[in-house]
Amino acid sequence: MQTSQLASSPVASRAAPAWKRIDRDACARRIARAIKKLSAPPFTSGSAGVTRYAFTEAYMLALGYLSDQLNDLGFAVKLDPVGNLIARNCPSSSAAVGLGSHCDSVRGGGSYDGTLGVLAAIEVARLSYEQGYDLPLQVISWVEEEASGFGEMLLGSRLATGWIDERALRTKVRSLDDGQSFFDHAREAGLEPERASEASSAIENLTAWIELHIEQGRVLEDAGEQFGVVEAIAGYVHADIEIHGQPDHAGATPMGLRRDAAIVAAQFMLELERLAIEAAGGSVATVGEITLDPGAINIIPGRARLSLDVRAPIDTTVSSIIEKATTTADELALSRGLQAIYRERQRMPSAALAPTVVKAIERSVEATGAPWRRMMSGAAHDTMCIASHVPSAMLFVPCRHGISHSPREYASPADAALGVEVLLNTVMELSKPGGSR
Ligand code: HGY
Ligand code: MN
Ligand code: MN
Repeated sequence: MQTSQLASSPVASRAAPAWKRIDRDACARRIARAIKKLSAPPFTSGSAGVTRYAFTEAYMLALGYLSDQLNDLGFAVKLDPVGNLIARNCPSSSAAVGLGSHCDSVRGGGSYDGTLGVLAAIEVARLSYEQGYDLPLQVISWVEEEASGFGEMLLGSRLATGWIDERALRTKVRSLDDGQSFFDHAREAGLEPERASEASSAIENLTAWIELHIEQGRVLEDAGEQFGVVEAIAGYVHADIEIHGQPDHAGATPMGLRRDAAIVAAQFMLELERLAIEAAGGSVATVGEITLDPGAINIIPGRARLSLDVRAPIDTTVSSIIEKATTTADELALSRGLQAIYRERQRMPSAALAPTVVKAIERSVEATGAPWRRMMSGAAHDTMCIASHVPSAMLFVPCRHGISHSPREYASPADAALGVEVLLNTVMELSKPGGSR
């Protein structure tokens, strides 16, 4: 059902009398304007698509833009010690419903991944403020969700929920641009990463958390459905495999005498694809980064580094793929007299989301009369960290052809506005006493 049909469909007007209908066109226009603004310099660096990541000027300006919007709506806005943007319209000691997502992007990515969720949260904040609903809200934009600045996904929400600590910020989490630690970059940005443990306050006194996000797949579009109510998020492992061989002369070294790291890397990538297809059940595996050293046309690569991104709805499947992949890498390397070294960056378990919040979202999407489905997310989200501390769920809106992490990413502002209406009504329900229990 196209949004335009939905907007005027009788079913939509049959929603419960308590249903708060919003001015969807005005909301869509505001979202479209904000997305357009945040998709252009100075809110993005680089050329194709959107490139915005922690502590770059583009990122800090985007945080400033979002903060201004929230300040105008009566929110107290701050950056926590590691750079999560936290905005509250009620005392920090009182209960609130958490809404938000992330406003960083992959490099050369799209305009909607994450940012749309933060803008939708701001729309709910605006409606609550302007319509006098007076909803207790906390809006969060999590830092470094995409790993595009420092190679560590979900960094801000993992810090808030204890999956990673301050020591790692000093030693392990390093800028992909200059190798400097996250800790030092955060200090240079005027933050206090030595107080990283206080990031946990971002989820204190939250009675529920909901993240609106584009689906980043094409299930909804193919089925002609308007909403995805997310009940689980696949787990993942991020790692690197280094293949060590011997750099040598590309012209003078006979094929039989080579220890070419690139050949083992190539064989490994094909084996990894086979392992993921064999594991089935929604398993996926990706080598998104590959570097060859010394990386010259006339030198046989002595070293290859591949990134591993392995995901599946079931954690033991992820572990099994990783085990088989590391064994395969060893065997392929040894068979040619080379060595493979596996280094894990992070491992996040799959997350089952809160049935009470899932059901609250379902009641709202049902009230719109639009077709929807329950689904799981193959993409990772900050919600998967929060869910173990706060009753959480997600609302997906369709994105065109399921394209994401690409300049071609697109979601219709009308679909987003419908999502805002669902978000608002769900928050109203959850804000009632005992709402998320
Ligand atoms: O990669 C992911 O799943 C997310 O978009 N960071
Ligand atoms: Mn993403
Ligand atoms: Mn995202």
